[in-house]
Amino acid sequence: MPTNLELNSPCKINLLLNILGRRADGFHDLETLMYPVPLYDRLVFSQAGTGVSLSCSHPQLPTDSRNLVYRAAEMFLARTTIVEGVKIHLQKEIPHAAGLGGGSGNAATTLLGLNQLFDFPLTPAILHELAESLGSDIPFFLQEKPALATGRGEHISPLEFFPALNGYFILLIHPGFGISTPWAYQQLASFPQTLNGTPGRAAKLVSLLETNDWTHAEGEFFNSLEAPALEKYPILELIQVFLRQNGATVALMSGSGSATFGLIPDEKAGVELREKFFQRFGEKFWTALVPARG
Ligand code: C5P
Repeated sequence: MPTNLELNSPCKINLLLNILGRRADGFHDLETLMYPVPLYDRLVFSQAGTGVSLSCSHPQLPTDSRNLVYRAAEMFLARTTIVEGVKIHLQKEIPHAAGLGGGSGNAATTLLGLNQLFDFPLTPAILHELAESLGSDIPFFLQEKPALATGRGEHISPLEFFPALNGYFILLIHPGFGISTPWAYQQLASFPQTLNGTPGRAAKLVSLLETNDWTHAEGEFFNSLEAPALEKYPILELIQVFLRQNGATVALMSGSGSATFGLIPDEKAGVELREKFFQRFGEKFWTALVPARG
């Protein structure tokens, strides 16, 4: 049994996020196509002391029960008979409140990491149960493939990587402010058509990406949560238009924002697009250019 473990904690983009309606419990039913992005926070786990002790490289992130890593670790220990405590360090690279699932990835990686550290006391089914009680996006990060997520996002059907994205690069742009997920969902009440989307759009996009049919796929990337976000923050629309005019096949907001992603056919075009973006918008924006596994 290892006493120390260091793991990468990835993030995601939503190639499509279609809200289907508001539920009685306040959540929203949706269908979303989640795609893993090879950009990572680091988590270091060790057995030490009693209870959970968390440190974080980002001074503005809480290190108590307001942090999903802390909550995931407490939940893990409570569900086992482990008497030892855990010490966890979180090295943040992924921007938060960005719609990239950084915090959700951290929580899932904590469940997986502690399970490994303590020699697998919990089954995958129990890990999934803990993950979904921690947050709608968290079960996705218990696996590593693209996935169709339904329900409030917790029902995961893994998919193979799409031939259409072979060789593609993802340019991520964070505008320097975050968007609160509850705010984004609440605002949908003012956009009734977007609130009650028609199911089937995710399956359609999957089928087009699987058959490499870019001609029809291009117009199918969609995110219901853009309606309130782009209205409140017009810069997000400007960024998207700029990306599309300068080499991106697709530009869309990820999750509840505020990050925008562009899909670019190759690395050279991605580097050029990022350079042009800096010239037009200034170098203050956080960006990352990473390969999309096809
Ligand atoms: O599940 P999670 O903690 O990530 O959700 C954060 C908030 O986002 C919820 O409290 C809810 O306001 C909103 N949400 C929603 N419908 C979903 C997922 C999230 O309304 N499917």
